[in-house]
Amino acid sequence: MKSSSVKELLSTTPKQQDVVVDGWVKTFRSNRFIAINDGSTINNIQCVVDFENFEDDVLKQVNSGAALKISGTLVESQGRGQNVEIQVKDIYVHGGADPDDYPIQPKKHSLEFLREKAHLRIRTNTFAAVMRVRSALAFAIHQYFRDNDFYYFHAPIVTGSDAEGAGEMFRVTTLDSKNPPLNDDGKVNYKEDFFGKETNLTVSGQLEAEAYAMALGKVYTFGPTFRAENSNTSRHLAEFWMIEPEMAFYDLDANMDLAEDFIKYVIGYIIEHCNEDLQFLEKRLLDEEKTKPQAERSEMALVEKLHFICDNNFKRVTYTEAIDILRNSKPNKKKRFQYPIDEWGADLQSEHERFLVEKHFKCPVILFNYPAKIKAFYMRLNEDGKTVRAMDILFPGIGEIVGGSQREERLDVLKDKIATLGIDEEELWWYLDLRKFGTAVHSGFGLGFERLVLFATGMGNIRDVIPFPRTPQNAEF
Ligand code: 4AD
Ligand code: MG
Repeated sequence: MKSSSVKELLSTTPKQQDVVVDGWVKTFRSNRFIAINDGSTINNIQCVVDFENFEDDVLKQVNSGAALKISGTLVESQGRGQNVEIQVKDIYVHGGADPDDYPIQPKKHSLEFLREKAHLRIRTNTFAAVMRVRSALAFAIHQYFRDNDFYYFHAPIVTGSDAEGAGEMFRVTTLDSKNPPLNDDGKVNYKEDFFGKETNLTVSGQLEAEAYAMALGKVYTFGPTFRAENSNTSRHLAEFWMIEPEMAFYDLDANMDLAEDFIKYVIGYIIEHCNEDLQFLEKRLLDEEKTKPQAERSEMALVEKLHFICDNNFKRVTYTEAIDILRNSKPNKKKRFQYPIDEWGADLQSEHERFLVEKHFKCPVILFNYPAKIKAFYMRLNEDGKTVRAMDILFPGIGEIVGGSQREERLDVLKDKIATLGIDEEELWWYLDLRKFGTAVHSGFGLGFERLVLFATGMGNIRDVIPFPRTPQNAEF
């Protein structure tokens, strides 16, 4: 007989029909109630055994974590908390889980402990809920772009250009690290390397996406990106996933409109499709926040916060306005910022971004028109000659979630910029070609997928929203 999923069974009308379910034991209480979960939903199905009908050595294997096939009849539940349950006729043990060894016991484990067991932590309710929401968000992202006539474009992961300057890169090489071929000057001769040049893992698919936007119109990438920065924070990964739309004929305003609409759509999607997981995560967050001082607790519960994003306009503020607000702010005057703000041109740190979002505006903020000096070379210079058409979206509890810009489409201006920054024009020859042949206004942005998942799930550490996190000194799994 074909097995049903727990999700299917929980929504089936019980008529004493025969059913089969495969899953893992969550708990086994009173030698009578087995809670089975198979990942299809956060809820378990209760299976009731009459222990007199079963051999002791079968029941002995019914421990948390064991994989079972259960056959029985689906009946209306006698107990509270569920509508249906299975009266068990037969138990087949796929594989046991020795309770003396199995680390995921039915009790509260710290997230830190579970990080060391990343291959098993997905068996906890918290991680299963987070990863189901993550999967739904990924689906919603593709759906949004499909509905809006974008093409999904695969940027290369190994890149020969290191000009973007978004971060430190990971070298990709097949040279013998103990004995690499050397040039006369003693430097490594990368001509002899696999690709005949220095190559790295990509920090962003943007430059390649620009090439594609200049023919297909609207494209997006959604893939892994890599940054070898030694930043051990709760917001940074060395390997993370980024969504990068790139649109021909879009200026900065159109770019901001798209980013806001896009984020609202994907958040709205999970509100609609992930209700049970979100309810669970909301409760988890409330429990966690009870241990924090009042001032650090968030004012809204998780689902309310998600609705708030969908229902309110993001506040659009220029960098210059933001600097004025920050300069005159209480924490700045009382010298409570680690990096005090006194001059226009200062780079904003996450403490400033969070002040603007969480204390001042109390809503998502899009900061735009940043000083050229603190932004990447490819951003469109404004008429004032000192700011560029950059935009960052800042989220409560997260800080920067999106970074984007209108791109410099004028060949001469771009060349000047490259020269001033001392970047080798040769390296960007193909990128400059895009400005020589049919150049046009265009824009795009990058959304950090894990930062979105962090926000959507209310988790506090980015290591807990990606299956196997890569961070400095950590690539165990
Ligand atoms: O602001 P970033 O560096 O922008 C770019 O890479 C552009 N090329 C994007 C574009 O215009 N197409 O990165 C974009 C986003 C950030 O806003 C942040 O959400 C996320 O990527 N991000 C990280 N997420 C996790 N770990 C890291 N180390 C991250 N660095 C950036
Ligand atoms: Mg950025």
